[in-house]
Amino acid sequence: MKVLVVGSGGREHALCWAIKSSPLCEELFCAPGNAGIADVATCLPVKAEDVDGLVRLAKDKAIDFVVVGPEAPLVGGLVDRLEQEGIKAFGPRANAAILEGSKGFTKDLCAKYDIPTAAYGRFDSAEAAKDFIRRKGAPIVVKADGLAAGKGVIIAQNVDEALAAVDAIMTERSFGEAGAEVVVEEFLDGEEASFFAIVDGETALPLIAAQDHKRVGDGDTGPNTGGMGAYSPAPVVDDAMQARIMDEIILPTVRGMAAEGRPFKGVLFAGLMINDQGPKLIEFNTRFGDPECQVLMARLNSDLLPVLIAAAEGRLGEVELSWSEHVALVVVMAAKGYPGSYEKNTVIGGLDAAGAVEGVTVFHAGTVRGEDGSIRAVGGRVLGVTAIASTVAEAREQAYKAVDLLDWPQGFCRRDIAWRALERDRG
Ligand code: AMP
Ligand code: GLY
Repeated sequence: MKVLVVGSGGREHALCWAIKSSPLCEELFCAPGNAGIADVATCLPVKAEDVDGLVRLAKDKAIDFVVVGPEAPLVGGLVDRLEQEGIKAFGPRANAAILEGSKGFTKDLCAKYDIPTAAYGRFDSAEAAKDFIRRKGAPIVVKADGLAAGKGVIIAQNVDEALAAVDAIMTERSFGEAGAEVVVEEFLDGEEASFFAIVDGETALPLIAAQDHKRVGDGDTGPNTGGMGAYSPAPVVDDAMQARIMDEIILPTVRGMAAEGRPFKGVLFAGLMINDQGPKLIEFNTRFGDPECQVLMARLNSDLLPVLIAAAEGRLGEVELSWSEHVALVVVMAAKGYPGSYEKNTVIGGLDAAGAVEGVTVFHAGTVRGEDGSIRAVGGRVLGVTAIASTVAEAREQAYKAVDLLDWPQGFCRRDIAWRALERDRG
């Protein structure tokens, strides 16, 4: 069959890499893709947000199956539009992607179906949000309701900071229309983990857990980013914890969404806070994580494509997955200055040497091939150096060995990916 993957990040490179190896995949396209994806797929210059353009492209190329990577086209109704044209797609329709598109919707769903999450209030008036903050005190968390590229969350250590966050989000509209409403919620203590399940509307198939590093600097310091590295397994999610996450969070959500007339199909990505009392939901995403997807694909032994098709066709009950027992770890290389402004068009050398390190695959994110044939960095997050090995210490050693073979003076990475897992191993 002909498959189209939508997106251009490291997540989409990992998805293309996995799908390309499927015997079911005869031809693979990616829109818009990147220089690394171009090695495994035909890249076509249509942006991931261009829903009309993507529908046209899928029709023109007679695509049989579309896999949507990022959230924006899901919330924008790409899957609905493709289905109207009779084209099968992996990902939720817009009325279910609202789990990521509106934090307020998700909090209300949690309240209605008894899904553990932080206590909250939901407001469309700045004054009401501020009254609530003054009553509750700090620390407290203020969130823009809509999509804000991972930036619309302010963890306020005192009441003044929280009140200023309401002004920034609702009055100044720092995140645009995403700030028409806010969610104000209790600060949760614990250890974070990302848990993934594939869902077909009714049945949820657990994938595995990962942990990512959101802060830009070593020791989890500095501003938040899309993610500077990840690893799987996540030691905090053992078998017993996975069973609780499925029973208390994933399954009630799948049943609740079906009962609301919004059956969820696609990847349900639960951002969790885990402590002695168990797991609590921080947020849902309706897509694979980036860079978590890179470590998931590294550990997946099964053929991915038939699983995605089974999810789209409501046949997930027939599917079983097999995972590597090994540890996968990804170190993100970003352009110096990220998540602020950074230089573009810098040349990256040493990619072949890095990719030849045992157990290592280098996934591309913000790269293009220059006219001179060189690979150039054009984004904030640029490469995901991914290693798989029998222990976390070995996976980390291999990944950094590959990083050190890269010749890209304008890039940087964190040097402490998986520090939490290593500390546990050392007891
Ligand atoms: P989100 O975009 O909702 O995932 O939030 C971004 C980050 O903010 C999360 O990964 C957490 O580190 C943190 N965060 C969000 N909500 C809370 C909360 N209620 N308590 C503590 N930390 C939170
Ligand atoms: N790495 C977190 C995310 O993809 O949202």
